[in-house]
Order: sequence, then C-alpha cells, then structure tokens
Amino acid sequence: MIILPGPASRDLATRLALKLRAKLVPVHFKKFPDGESYLRIEGTIKGENTAIVQTTSPPQDERMMQLLLLTSAANDQNPEAITVIVPYLAYSRQDRRFLPGEALSAKMVMDALATCGVSKLITVNCHNPAALKSFPILVQDLSAIPLLAKHFKDRGYEGAVSLSMGKKGLVTALEAADILKGSSDFLPTKRHRRTGRVTIEKKPLKVESKVAIFFDDIISSGGTMMKAVAHAKRQGATRVFAACVHPLLIDNAEEKILRSGADEVVGTDTVPSSVSIVSVAPLIAKALTRQGA
Ligand code: R5P
Repeated sequence: MIILPGPASRDLATRLALKLRAKLVPVHFKKFPDGESYLRIEGTIKGENTAIVQTTSPPQDERMMQLLLLTSAANDQNPEAITVIVPYLAYSRQDRRFLPGEALSAKMVMDALATCGVSKLITVNCHNPAALKSFPILVQDLSAIPLLAKHFKDRGYEGAVSLSMGKKGLVTALEAADILKGSSDFLPTKRHRRTGRVTIEKKPLKVESKVAIFFDDIISSGGTMMKAVAHAKRQGATRVFAACVHPLLIDNAEEKILRSGADEVVGTDTVPSSVSIVSVAPLIAKALTRQGA
C-alpha cells in the first residue's frame, strides 16, 4: 500500500505508514501568493493500492480543496484503488434541508470525491453519522472513544465515571465505560435550529468524590464542555477531564474549559492541536489491514 500525506495530516500519515510498514510517497505542497493551493505527488502510484490522509478541520474549505486536488492528481496516475482517510470530516452536518434553499453539503462533498475516483472513505467519529448513509462510495466510520478511554485507563483512572453529551451520546459514555469499568451517564442537550448553539440540561450526576471524564466527539467553541465540566464540579467530582476525538478548539476553547474547572483537555490527532496526544493511527491501520492493505 502507498500512503499519500495530505498537507493537513502529515504527522498522522507518517504514523500510519510506520504502523502499516507502507511506503510514504511525498506530496509537495505550497500556496500561491494569492492563496490558491498547489500540490504535486513526488513519485509514482500507478497500479498501487493508495490511501490519502487529509483531515478537513478548519480551515475546512482550504483543506477540502487540497483533498480534492490530491485525490484528482492521484486518480490521474491510475492507481489500483483510492481510499481517502479523512479523520475529521467537515460538512457532515448538513445532510438534509432544514430550511428551503439550503445546500446539501454532505452529499456534494461525497459526489466530488466519487468524481475524483475515490472508492472508499474512512473517517473517525463522524459528527452526523446519518450523513454517511446512501453515499455513492463505501464509507467506514470508526470510533476513537475506546482509544481515549484506554489512555485514561493507562494513566490509572480505571473506575472513573464516563460521561457524555446528549441522549444519542450515551453510546459514547458506554463505549468508554466498557474500558474504564466505572459507571456511565449523559447530560441531555438541545441544539438551536438556527444558531446551532448547544445547551445542556443540568441533571444530577453521581460523581461525588469521584473522577469524572467527559467524552465527546468534538470540542469546537468549548461552550458545551465548559458547562458540563462546571456542572460535574458543582456535583462534587474530585477531578474532571474533558476528552474529545476532534479538538477543533476554536477561540481559546482549551483555556476556557480549564478555567471552568477541568484538570486537562485531551484529544486525538484527527485534528492536530496542542491537546492531540492520542493517535488514531492504530485504529486506521487496523481498518486498512482488515480491508487487505
Ligand atoms: C453536540 O452535539 C456535540 O457532541 C458537541 O458537544 C458540540 O458540537 C460541541 O460544540 P461546542 O464546543 O461549540 O460547544
């Protein structure tokens, strides 16, 4: 297998190539003075099973364009197959029209990738898994929650309370609790239709004198996590950790969460950041191996 590192995920691509003992073909990337992206595959991938690694965290539009350019350049070389690994998949929120005239961005992205010759897409904890249904290409959505839970277990937090946001997120808390062997619960959430702002319901949590760990797929502005952490502290948790798969951390979100009482914010390398200490490379390597990389 050949790994092509997209400019937004070079470190993760390198970790993945090492895990798989796959060849990493360099991709030269630069920006023109007007801001346009330029890239060139510095090697040949003709007839090769090829995996492209490129996250599409902010700046999403730019990174999405780089992904399409890289996929198109790869397709032009006639590889055996192209799998795109998009650890954080942008534009997955909008899979249906909430208001007339809105763009179906999730479908548009998939159509564009299919046009560029992609046969399979692998992503991690897609924010809106419903958006992945009925796509023209094969999609695999992996969960990095067990890796995050294992990280805390290895640090001695076995038995901690695993918490998540939203009733739908309870499965996240259960996934973590399966590894941490403690109890699990969730805080109900509501999302505003137009602003997208999430509010949490401050229900009682059984965290008194315990270590509590919140697991979420994403921390964006940090607003949801801040409120959740402060609530757990008020309920008597001794230590509170904020863990997420995709640490977008917009506008000093990490600082805000720490100020709300969290001991630490921990994320994965689906999105490179100061808190991306858990790598999803083993998870992706396993998925690629299973498909016969
Ligand atoms: C909610 O559905 C998600 O699981 C996250 O809690 C939310 O998207 C995080 O957004 P923010 O960090 O802006 O509050």
